[in-house]
Amino acid sequence: MIIQNDVSAKAYNSFGIDVRLSTLIELDKVSDLSYLSHYLKNKPVRILGGGSNVLLTEEVELPLCLVTFKGMDIVLDDPGYVLLRVQAGEVWHDVVTWAVEHGYGGIENLALIPGRTGAAPIQNIGAYGVEIKDVLHSVRAHEMVSGQVFTFHCSECGFGYRQSYFKNKWKDRFLIQDVTLKLTKSGHHRINTSYGAITKVLTEKGIDNPSISNVCDAVVSIRTHKLPDPSEIGNAGSFFKNPVISEDQYQKLKSSHPEIVSYPVENGVKLAAGWLIDSCGWKGKIVGKTGTYENQALVLVNHGGASGAEVYALSESIQSDVMSTYGVKLEREVNVW
Ligand code: EPU
Repeated sequence: MIIQNDVSAKAYNSFGIDVRLSTLIELDKVSDLSYLSHYLKNKPVRILGGGSNVLLTEEVELPLCLVTFKGMDIVLDDPGYVLLRVQAGEVWHDVVTWAVEHGYGGIENLALIPGRTGAAPIQNIGAYGVEIKDVLHSVRAHEMVSGQVFTFHCSECGFGYRQSYFKNKWKDRFLIQDVTLKLTKSGHHRINTSYGAITKVLTEKGIDNPSISNVCDAVVSIRTHKLPDPSEIGNAGSFFKNPVISEDQYQKLKSSHPEIVSYPVENGVKLAAGWLIDSCGWKGKIVGKTGTYENQALVLVNHGGASGAEVYALSESIQSDVMSTYGVKLEREVNVW
């Protein structure tokens, strides 16, 4: 456990926002967790992994726990699948790369999602038709107040679109210690190439029977083109969720805006937030030190030296434009601190 006082947050959040952290507690060994509750004496804390889904709008006065402990173990090797236990501090993309290199399938569509593994179940990360809940076996979570470790099976975590109990009803109660993934060893029935963008890349390369490695490469190439690299341009991926509206509201919108991009879902119709924002004229717009990315309007960026408040203000202007044009409320996906 490494404790530092009065440090800049800049290196610890992918937006690159420079605010002061009053106390930074780096947990670089899983055994640090056993001292943590004792050290904190019930004081509330903030927990951070890769800092890739957070917008810091003010100084962080509460102690901030940075989870960096690493490790991956195959805890069960069955003829058809493996259970891979991954410690929370592992960088998510390294886990994807490792799995693909070892021929384990299930997470190749989730390549290049920034952040560390502990954050993956919190917001049920997803891309190209796959969410972590589809391959998650269980999660071990350290209860901050009691120091007790709980194991939750995937079905007990309340997963939904970018949602879980860890993000809503259990907010701040647990620190994710590790996740166990159920990955296929062969057959890879889960390979999901139904997403148009992936099929297009594979077709261009003349691949019609893709391996998990081909899918992973296709996802990496799409994401590299469409999304800014946080080490060059500060950002936190999609800033808003894709909103779900009722079929009725959708039909009305569709008649006035026939080109609207939408996908049918169980409880209504999901709209592409990126399209809504783009069509309001925001794509690639620069506002002071912030703006939206030139290739994906859903991604708000820090062009250098922006404050969290500036980014937040931009997100409010976008919300209000989309509301007045389409009558649709955009909800932030990024956590605002
Ligand atoms: N679009 C535009 N203009 C834009 C952006 C998008 O017209 O500026 C249109 C696209 O042409 C497309 C549609 O909107 O028809 C959807 O865009 P895209 O395929 O880029 O996906 P998305 O819905 O914007 C979601 C996830 C991403 C994930 C991709 C791929 C959310 C909030 N975002 O984006 O996840 O990578 O699908 O599956 O669900 C993230 O969560 O941080 C993230 C990057």
